[in-house]
Amino acid sequence: MSSERGTVGQRYFAGIYPRIMNRVEAGGHGRLRARHLSRARGRTLDLGTGNGYSVPHYPVEVTDLTMVEPNPGLRDQLQAVVGKIRAERWEILDGDAYRLPFEDGSFDTVAASLLFCSLDDPDLALAEVHRVLRPGGTFLFHEHVRGQGVPGFVHDLITPVQRRLGDGCRPNRDFLATLERSPLAAVEIEEHSGAGGLLPLVVGRASGRHDGR
Ligand SMILES: C[S@@+](CC[C@H](N)C(=O)[O-])C[C@H]1O[C@@H](n2cnc3c(N)ncnc32)[C@H](O)[C@@H]1O
Repeated sequence: MSSERGTVGQRYFAGIYPRIMNRVEAGGHGRLRARHLSRARGRTLDLGTGNGYSVPHYPVEVTDLTMVEPNPGLRDQLQAVVGKIRAERWEILDGDAYRLPFEDGSFDTVAASLLFCSLDDPDLALAEVHRVLRPGGTFLFHEHVRGQGVPGFVHDLITPVQRRLGDGCRPNRDFLATLERSPLAAVEIEEHSGAGGLLPLVVGRASGRHDGR
């Protein structure tokens, strides 16, 4: 059921997400964001901004920051971080990763963190990222993915429950396979075994392929 406050799932997620993530961010995740996002430049799109953990980490080289977030409760929470934005211009938009309201080649940088686990059609969303990125622009990704061995088995086991409680989040998503199928090519990939292998992350950069795919 949806209202102007969002679906029941979105409202639940907007309440629970900061309670879980405040500790994760303070425990080192914030530092990882800061290092990763320091590469953002120029006109930048942050896709699925959530309550804005990435927002304070964009460097001064980001001139315009566009934040797209479909969950009304999380968009409200974003107001608490807008004072930390260093870009000259910024905007917060409702929106959908599958139909971005921007012309082709609009952005120098597109960044997404912990987004692709939540999407039913990650291939379509990556095609949209590619479309709105200017030729030679940078896609900065930071995603949690299915683990190897026992952690991977645990991720498969908990996925049906986490999808319901985490607004669609699938802990067993293989983001790098989606990226490999996309019109974007990875330029750099770091793999992190967060929380003893239970929260593996892939963090990196990609740009448009030169092979025309
Ligand atoms: C796990 S949260 C991550 C939030 C934030 N990027 C961060 O790093 O903390 C996933 C976010 O993706 C958003 N989201 C879900 N489906 C989306 C869609 N189709 N288009 C854009 N954002 C979406 C959710 O509302 C949520 O804010």
